[in-house]
Amino acid sequence: MAGILGFGGYVPERVMTNDDWSKLVDTTDEWITSRTGIKERRIAAEDESTADFACHAGSRAIVDSGLTPGDIDEVIVATDTPEVYTPDTASFVQTRLGLREIPAFDLGGSGCAGFVQALDVARARVALSPKNVLVIGVEVITRLIDWEDRATAVLFGDGAGAVVIGPERAKAEVLDVVAGTDGSKAGILTLTTGGTHRPFNAETLASGEYKTLTMNGQEVFREAVRRMSQATTEVLANTGKSVDDVALVIPHQANKRIIDAVRKKLGVDDSKVYVNVHAYGNTGSASVPLALSEAVGQGAISEGDLVILTAFGAGFHWAAAALQF
Ligand SMILES: CC(C)(COP(=O)(O)OP(=O)(O)OC[C@H]1O[C@@H](n2cnc3c(N)ncnc32)[C@H](O)[C@@H]1OP(=O)(O)O)[C@@H](O)C(=O)NCCC(=O)NCCS
Repeated sequence: MAGILGFGGYVPERVMTNDDWSKLVDTTDEWITSRTGIKERRIAAEDESTADFACHAGSRAIVDSGLTPGDIDEVIVATDTPEVYTPDTASFVQTRLGLREIPAFDLGGSGCAGFVQALDVARARVALSPKNVLVIGVEVITRLIDWEDRATAVLFGDGAGAVVIGPERAKAEVLDVVAGTDGSKAGILTLTTGGTHRPFNAETLASGEYKTLTMNGQEVFREAVRRMSQATTEVLANTGKSVDDVALVIPHQANKRIIDAVRKKLGVDDSKVYVNVHAYGNTGSASVPLALSEAVGQGAISEGDLVILTAFGAGFHWAAAALQF
């Protein structure tokens, strides 16, 4: 048995609207809103970076769980925008939150599916031997993207979300998690520079390709709808539940049109889908835990509710979780 003991979320104060973007690149509020549903997003302050965000969300989740930092036995940080190249962000979280000398590691590169994948790892670790695992999804993505590329830059925002997973039901039981990968589609959403295949060097820095996110928007859209629906159907089947049993679906907040298409494909009512993409844009692996902690904080989830988390990301990865509150 693995359950969620506490939730936490963090977004920076600075708000950037679509109109703000239209002053920097050739875009409009109308284009962004009609294509994505995004109205504004949050941007990290100059003196903030990924570990700060992770610590804010993580410490809120620890407080919400009624535990102290000394009670945490393991940390997993899902991020594609780490504090530094090496070591991982989890190392900074371990020391800054004053945690014991516990295992702490990142799950990186899974794009926006990272948090739900990390949840899968955490619940398996807890089932193996009872412990409290802090799971964080965090991105400071606006620091690394190309601010001159209107096709990608306007989609993203910064944020963090976290949960503490433990060996008791507490606030919700993690009934099941499913996950999958189709690596043949790695090219539809990728940042190819900075690794061993194409390192940072004078040429890649001068060309600006180190910050260019290559994205086939329409293929990502199609795969996102297909895989989030598929993962949701699978996790429901594994738990012996049907779509009619679901009280709330919390999908990865990439695009309102993707969310609507998933909702229609699954046959779920509008009122049963949590949406905050208008306020934060796509916050990568922070998106699902941020929406989850916000939904809990707003009282959108009640005792007895079956909640589905479903996400997709670069890879191409997908994952879904069934939570019984
Ligand atoms: C990116 C996305 C919003 C584009 O929407 P779309 O309906 O496919 O866009 P369209 O093909 O109708 O329009 C593309 C046109 O808009 C232009 N465009 C791109 N970004 C723009 C912007 N911010 N403002 C104005 N025009 C823009 C393009 O240059 C292109 O122009 P062209 O036709 O003259 O070449 C959509 O494909 C999408 O959301 N895909 C999923 C992306 C995603 O979720 N990525 C993150 C995954 S974690």
